Amino acid sequence: MRCLPAFGLALASIPTALLAQNAAAPPPSAVVKMHCASCHSGPVPKGGVLLDSADADQPFKDPDAWERVVRQLRARTMPTAGAPRPDHQTYESTIAALTASLDRTRLARDVSLTDTELAKRLSGMLWNGEPDQPLRDAAAQGTLRDIEARRTLVRRMLADSRSAALVTEFFNTWLALDELTTLKVDRDRFPEFDDDLRGAMRRETELFVESQLRDNRSPLDLWTADYTFLNERLARHYGIAGVSGADYRRVTWPGTERAGLLGQGSILALTSYPFDAYPVDMPTTSPAQRGRWILTRLMGVNPPTPIPGMPSADYPFRKHIPSVTLSKALPAAPCGACHQAFFPLSYGLEHFDVLGRWRANYGTDAIDASGTLVDGTTFNGPVELRQRLLERPDAFLTALTEKLVAYAIGGKLAMAEPTPASRMPAIRAVLREAENGNLSWSSLIAAIASMPADLQ
Ligand code: HEC
Ligand code: HEC
Repeated sequence: MRCLPAFGLALASIPTALLAQNAAAPPPSAVVKMHCASCHSGPVPKGGVLLDSADADQPFKDPDAWERVVRQLRARTMPTAGAPRPDHQTYESTIAALTASLDRTRLARDVSLTDTELAKRLSGMLWNGEPDQPLRDAAAQGTLRDIEARRTLVRRMLADSRSAALVTEFFNTWLALDELTTLKVDRDRFPEFDDDLRGAMRRETELFVESQLRDNRSPLDLWTADYTFLNERLARHYGIAGVSGADYRRVTWPGTERAGLLGQGSILALTSYPFDAYPVDMPTTSPAQRGRWILTRLMGVNPPTPIPGMPSADYPFRKHIPSVTLSKALPAAPCGACHQAFFPLSYGLEHFDVLGRWRANYGTDAIDASGTLVDGTTFNGPVELRQRLLERPDAFLTALTEKLVAYAIGGKLAMAEPTPASRMPAIRAVLREAENGNLSWSSLIAAIASMPADLQ
């Protein structure tokens, strides 16, 4: 049975510090009026999103619309580039006020899992299988109810070789590693990109993620870890000396450029065009693909919907220049303003070519790896890009938790679905619980395991 939100109770549960902070901060209605209404009101609101500023103080009345707003605020992707934006404090207080209201609806909805269901959710998530005897015993003894005990158990399950299923099922889907297998390649031009190399790139990422899980690192280390796994073939591809044989081993990168997933050939290649690509008629890295990959995974936001027929086929494109160079030269209106939400995310990776090799220049032309994010933040090169992206990790952690929860509930097919607004309060609760446990894979998974049974 659904109950109406219990207001008295909800207010009592908001920490006093937050209320005090909110007392000094402008209410969401004022922020929306000042920074959003100019584009999101009237008969034809931008993006089809009508934001009546008065409703911003009662967001629980329309969770779908206001969860979308929270998502944009968290990623700092709204307002659009160049428009006046709130300062950091105002962003944070607006997100806090909106989510505090949205989270009230949560209170009435808890239906706990039974011990057996808890054990099944854990083994399904981590091993893609049924609970084993120790896990069944823990369920029978009621140990799984205790958060600390559950974290310890999850650490044991992650260290077990069966957790490889989490990599092949969850991570390969989330990172789109399967696309590497079908990536179109001009084999005449890139004879070195054979099935061995494709396989090695994929294996590198799988081994890397597996080691992060086994060592129970923080999910943030996916982007910053200073090591990877190479065999001779892949080491040669990257120009790393001293690795021989077909076996993979852990190798520490000599510099910080390649840290984490954004330095791995798998992701760099699957977001590129190693063939004569439209509209530049040459193999090229792709700001659209790399930018979109980062935007959706690290910031949890979708790129804008392209307008059909834009650009038209007779647009005077310059040929035979890299796509990044082309995109930087496009006029702001009507092109660049729309691309600015996500193309620049790729610019910092431009020193990595279509097969993920480091290049100092484009033959004779210099590479410009600088960019400006939609919120005006500037960077140059992969190291600074990564720093900027991780300055506010909430967007990534929320996006990751959404995907893990979808996977826990419905398996990998469910990961393609957008998260229903009704699920977001539980996602935020999970993240808070994981952060109480020093944010690691075990604390995140242990928190997800005990999420209510009635989530849609
Ligand atoms: C200068 C105009 C402008 C301003 C100011 C602006 N927006 Fe937008 N907004 C757009 C455009 C254009 C789109 C559609 C393209 C897109 O999704 O990026 C959009 C789309 C959106 C969407 C839909 C995204 C989705 O697909 O779910 C949301 C939500 C949104 N804006 C929220 C906000 C909020 C909140 C503010 C104020 C903090 C704001 N916007 C300020 C222009 C603006
Ligand atoms: C409404 C927003 C919007 C406008 C306006 C727009 N684009 Fe785009 N553009 C996109 C999106 C979104 C993509 C990525 C499509 C995809 O996912 O492959 C894109 C991709 C591209 C690409 C491919 C880049 C790559 O890496 O593959 C080119 C080239 C491009 N746009 C050119 C233009 C030009 C030229 C104009 C202006 C005449 C323009 N666009 C206007 C949204 C827009």
